[in-house]
Amino acid sequence: MVTVEVCIGSACYVRGSNHVVSDLKELIKEEHWEEKVALKGSFCMKACQNHIGLGVKINGRQIAGVTMQNAREILKEEISKALA
Ligand code: FES
Repeated sequence: MVTVEVCIGSACYVRGSNHVVSDLKELIKEEHWEEKVALKGSFCMKACQNHIGLGVKINGRQIAGVTMQNAREILKEEISKALA
C-alpha cells in the first residue's frame, strides 16, 4: 500500500491543496489504484516554511516542487514509481 499525505494546513490550503486532494481522488479512480493507494490529510509538514511547494508526502517522503497546477502530473509519476 502506498500512502499519500496531503497537507491541509492553512498555508497549503490557500495555495490549493484541496484541489490537489480532488485531483488525486480522480487519479486514483482513473488508474484503478483504490486498493493500492491510501490518501490522507495531514497537518503542516513544514513544506511551507521550507519553500518547497505544497506539503505532499508519499510513504513518508516529502515531494518537493508540488503546486496546484503540476500536482497531478508529478504525483502520477511518483505514485507509479512507488507502486513499481
Ligand atoms: S501548511 Fe502545509 S506544509 Fe505547512
